[in-house]
Amino acid sequence: MLKGLLFDLDGVLTDSAKYHLQAWNQLATDLNITLPPEANQQLRGRSRLDSLNLVLSYGHQENRYTSAQKAAFAKTKNQMYLHLIEAMTPADILPGISDLLAAAKAAHLTMVIASASRNAPVILTRLGLAEQFDGIVDPATLHRGKPDPEIYERAQALAKLNTTEVAAFEDAAVGVSAIKAAGQFAVGIGDPAVLYQADYIVPSTAALKLEDIQRAYTTWLERKE
Ligand code: G6P
Ligand code: MG
Repeated sequence: MLKGLLFDLDGVLTDSAKYHLQAWNQLATDLNITLPPEANQQLRGRSRLDSLNLVLSYGHQENRYTSAQKAAFAKTKNQMYLHLIEAMTPADILPGISDLLAAAKAAHLTMVIASASRNAPVILTRLGLAEQFDGIVDPATLHRGKPDPEIYERAQALAKLNTTEVAAFEDAAVGVSAIKAAGQFAVGIGDPAVLYQADYIVPSTAALKLEDIQRAYTTWLERKE
């Protein structure tokens, strides 16, 4: 039986993924790097440092800087990002999310945030959603970023549930890989060609309906047994 929902944040609850990309683009430009179109997908879900290394690799600069210089670049990007998210309000909650959270609450599902972002608590507060969740994984305590399953295993432990009792939501290919590596039911939001590993895929958050998710989850569970 479905007992809990585990949520990525950026690109799932709100479109902050576009601000991450904008800030990375700004830093890339400062470093004379042009991000290719696929960076939009590739940067999604990756930790701050993994993202920086990817940005540098697009410019063949991955071995050019010391870790202190990289830390400074990451800090600069974060300052730009913080500036971009300053004006966020509850109006920035993506379509369908508020209804989904309300339906989940009515069904007494446990809800936990599994975001790699150290800014997740700030964003949840800006969106007015901070009180909606039963837990939030602290990404500062993680050893490995998505696609490693660690963050989803931790979220599941926070929810005090088993692997087959949760559904996890992602917009990033590395995020879906992390969910599947954790053995959980994955709901992908976006392009099926990118999120092909997911067990259930919708084109956008507007199409997320708890009943449909529960039905797909039940089919998945029955096939497993
Ligand atoms: C999420 C986003 C990534 C971001 C990462 C770290 O996973 O999808 O784009 O790089 O969090 O976020 P932070 O706000 O800590 O830099
Ligand atoms: Mg995401």
